[in-house]
Formats: sequence, C-alpha cells, structure tokens
Amino acid sequence: MRAAARKNMTDPQRNTDPEHVPVMPKEVLELLQCKPGGIFVDATIGLGGHAREILERIQPGGQLIGIDRDKESLEKVEGLLKPFAGSLRLLHENYKNLPLILNNLAGKPVDGILLDLGVSSYQLLSPERGFSFQSDVMLDMRMDRTQQWTAADLVNKLSEAELADLIYRYGEERLSRRVFKVRGHQGIHPATRTFQALRIAVNEELEGLDEFLTEAFGFLKSGGRMVVIAFHSLEDRIVKKAFRRLAGQCVCDAPPELCTCPRQALANLVTPRPMTPGPEELAANPRARSARLRSLERI
Ligand SMILES: C[S@@+](CC[C@H](N)C(=O)[O-])C[C@H]1O[C@@H](n2cnc3c(N)ncnc32)[C@H](O)[C@@H]1O
Repeated sequence: MRAAARKNMTDPQRNTDPEHVPVMPKEVLELLQCKPGGIFVDATIGLGGHAREILERIQPGGQLIGIDRDKESLEKVEGLLKPFAGSLRLLHENYKNLPLILNNLAGKPVDGILLDLGVSSYQLLSPERGFSFQSDVMLDMRMDRTQQWTAADLVNKLSEAELADLIYRYGEERLSRRVFKVRGHQGIHPATRTFQALRIAVNEELEGLDEFLTEAFGFLKSGGRMVVIAFHSLEDRIVKKAFRRLAGQCVCDAPPELCTCPRQALANLVTPRPMTPGPEELAANPRARSARLRSLERI
C-alpha cells in the first residue's frame, strides 16, 4: 500500500460521517490488490467510500467504473469524488447490465470488481426515501426512483396470502401471516425483517444475481478478483454457490454418484469461508454487523 493511501486509512478526520463509512474497507482493499494503472469496477458505488480508496491506489493511469441505480447517490458521489474525475466513469445503471456496459467500453478485461450489496446508509438515513420504519413516511424503498412501483404499491396491491409469502420468503419471517395486520398504518413498523422483505421485492435484489456473478466473472483478467459483500443470508447463499461453482466445486444436493456439477475450476476461492467485520469496526459502525464478505480470483 502506498504511504499516502495508508495515511488516509488511519486519518481520524476521514469517513466519520455515517453516510460515507464503507464496510470492511481494509479487507476489501487488501483483497482487491489495487495498483497504479489498474482497471476496476465498483458496481454499487453508493457515496464512494470504497471507491475513493480504490481511486487513490490506482493512480497514476488507473480507471474506475462506478455504477449505481440511485441517481441521487450518483449526483452526490460525483461531487465527492471530483478530484478523481479524470479516472472515474460514473454510470446510472443496474449492475446487472455490467456485461453490456463493459462490452460497450471497449470490452477490456478488468483487474477487479467490487459489489457491496444492499441499501446504503445515505438511502437508509434519508427519511423521504421510505426505507426506515423509524420515519413516519410513505413506504417507497426504491433504490432507483425512476422505477414505477414502490413498496406501498406492493403492500396495497398484493393479496394477504401473497404478502405473507413474500415476507416469509425474503424476510425469513416465521410469523409472516400476522405481520400484514398492520397494513395501512404507514410508518408503523411490523418488524425489521418485514421491511427487508419488501425492500428485496421492490428492488428485485435477488433476481439475476447468480447470472450476474457468472457473467461478470468472465470480464476479469487472469489473477483478477471479485469481492462481494452481502448483508443477508439469502444473498450470501447465492454468492457462496456461484463462487463455489466457478471454483469447480459441487453445488448440488445430489449424492456424489449422481452429481452433474461441471467441476471445472475457473477460479480459486480467496475466502473459503466468509469474512466478517472485526470487533473494532462493529463498535464504530454497528450497521456492518450482518456483512459477509467473499472473494475469488480468476485462474
Ligand atoms: C451498501 S451501498 C454501497 C456503499 C459503497 N460501497 C460506499 O462505500 O459508499 C449499496 C449501493 O448499491 C446500489 N445498488 C443496489 N442494487 C443495485 C443494482 N442492482 N444496480 C446498481 N446499484 C445498486 C444502491 O443504490 C446503493 O447505493
């Protein structure tokens, strides 16, 4: 790590605003192995907590492609990362379009891809975005506000049985059939898991994640790395399975003699088990508590 970057990581003036604190920054940066001239993708740039650290390490000559589906976040991060404007390409996109984006940007292989999933502190802490049950506002929960349907639409249009199923599936909520009784009392929260379920459904957070990981992996250079931080077990399970499959491991439930997994190792698992935040980070940033970080390297 270069001296300037090392100093910045420990600078007490830095990253104290809760909107800007990245999760597991030290681990992410060590795993990505950023170097001058490197080409990286931050597929969920948010307010650029990780991106800033990456940008500092890829100078001179590096490029960072920063993607977010939240236009407001992108406008903010553009201002925050102005000093790096020459090395940063910002795109208002769904990261699931990354293969298309990279093909359009000359199709060069990249050194690393970061995916820090879920909702940002900025989104969570903006009451008008309707992500938090601590604000008495309409349920919105759209990460991309150009999208038409909101969480309020879901709550009001689905049948009770459909809502209960959704909460059971995405919130892993065993009491889901009782939860919808609070329907109509916007701002009164039934449970954190219920909010999680609605958010996952409105933003279609799990759809296409597996395919994305496999396709995006194809754009890594040999020796290039992917780092993914997931914040709930449904997401982490998809990441774990996709990474194991790319590493040539069995991911089916069949007995060994019936297994048809391809078993062709295209990658090495850098983290055979997920990494989690240490006690120091958790004390400073309790929002990091459910983070699970996984990384793999293309052979
Ligand atoms: C946890 S935050 C990322 C924080 C960022 N790493 C930082 O250090 O500031 C997740 C971000 O990903 C964005 N996001 C979530 N799903 C997305 C998707 N499918 N496509 C693009 N961006 C997405 C959200 O809008 C949010 O800004």
